[in-house]
Amino acid sequence: MTHSTTDAAAELRRALAADLIERGEVRTGRWRDAVQEVPREVFLGEAVYRLTEDGSAWRPVRRDRLGEQEWLELAYQDVSWVTQVDGVDAADAMGDVVGSPTSSSTLPSLVVAMLEDMDIGAGQRVLEIGTGTGYSTALLCQALGDARVTSVEVDSGVAAAAAAALARVGHRPRLLVADGVLGDLDGLADDRRYDRLVATCSFRYLPPPWLDQVRPGGTILFTLSGWMHANAQALLTVTDDACAEGRFLTGHRSFMLARPHQPPPAGPLLYPPAGAERPSALGPEVLREPTARLLAQLAAPGAVAVATSRDVLLWDIASGSRTHVQPEDGGWRVRQSGPVRLWDQVEDAIRTWHDHGSPDISRFGLTATPAEQRLWLDSPQGPSWRLPI
Ligand SMILES: C[S@@+](CC[C@H](N)C(=O)[O-])C[C@H]1O[C@@H](n2cnc3c(N)ncnc32)[C@H](O)[C@@H]1O
Repeated sequence: MTHSTTDAAAELRRALAADLIERGEVRTGRWRDAVQEVPREVFLGEAVYRLTEDGSAWRPVRRDRLGEQEWLELAYQDVSWVTQVDGVDAADAMGDVVGSPTSSSTLPSLVVAMLEDMDIGAGQRVLEIGTGTGYSTALLCQALGDARVTSVEVDSGVAAAAAAALARVGHRPRLLVADGVLGDLDGLADDRRYDRLVATCSFRYLPPPWLDQVRPGGTILFTLSGWMHANAQALLTVTDDACAEGRFLTGHRSFMLARPHQPPPAGPLLYPPAGAERPSALGPEVLREPTARLLAQLAAPGAVAVATSRDVLLWDIASGSRTHVQPEDGGWRVRQSGPVRLWDQVEDAIRTWHDHGSPDISRFGLTATPAEQRLWLDSPQGPSWRLPI
């Protein structure tokens, strides 16, 4: 990098920090300074993916084709840059790639909002799940010091690139190549208990090993997701008996599902055969409301959903049960097949939600014990839904 590009990068970092402060995402000097210090361009490597205009594929954008100034401007946009699609790194892609993102650099506003929400104090130890490019790990190192940061990444190639980028900017946190569902099992042997655990990939339930790895009074910030792609972020406090409880945060925050929590291949999606049919009071529009979709996802946790504006197909992967909802005479008609009546379960959950005034996610909370995990409305004694653990 020349002097002028170094200056340009510093200027872009200052502008990003100022923008995040103005939008209320950065609320403290600690994270403002970290954003101003960490060069995001180093963590993007040599290429990222951009969605093609019609949204059908991922197109690699290469640093050497853009030129240094344009690349820097790209790096400091407040967007998530996808760096890997179905295991193919952007730098290795010969052309457009069709598939789903499997690694990325999360948008800075989301990363810092999460770090602020966790209220991380000086001297606290943090376990991060999902190192990805290492950008969020670098922010943690910058604010807390390398010795206080451990980060876990399941993909060894991604982890190696993150380690190299972190080293380039002078950081050497503890990096583990492992399944983050297990957290830091090695740390447990050393009786290391973390003050904070933050996950930048999402999970269908709270991975139980985490409950032993965060000290009582410590907090966990993770994104609950599932096979219908409904996401909600929960901030939980760990209790003395290795349980955790807390509330969901407002705002739409989503992450890619952790690899072991992704659905198995569903095969060709087929409509249910003619059979049990009835009118339905609900149509596919209900799944466009984020909280309703989250409840539907918990009501039919083994189902994937394919929805258009006119119809929705649910497919329970384990049992093969299927549900199709489509318009009929100004209303909706549902056809269901297989042992699990998926739409009956979804309707039941949505009815409870409607009966309580269609509350948004901030009225929901989560309790995780070694025995079970439940999402509840208003209080742990309120209506609740079991997580598919
Ligand atoms: C959204 S990216 C992380 C972004 C990162 N924090 C950053 O700022 O660049 C999610 C990462 O989680 C990783 N991941 C997925 N499943 C995982 C698992 N079970 N354990 C650890 N990491 C996982 C993915 O490989 C991916 O790199």
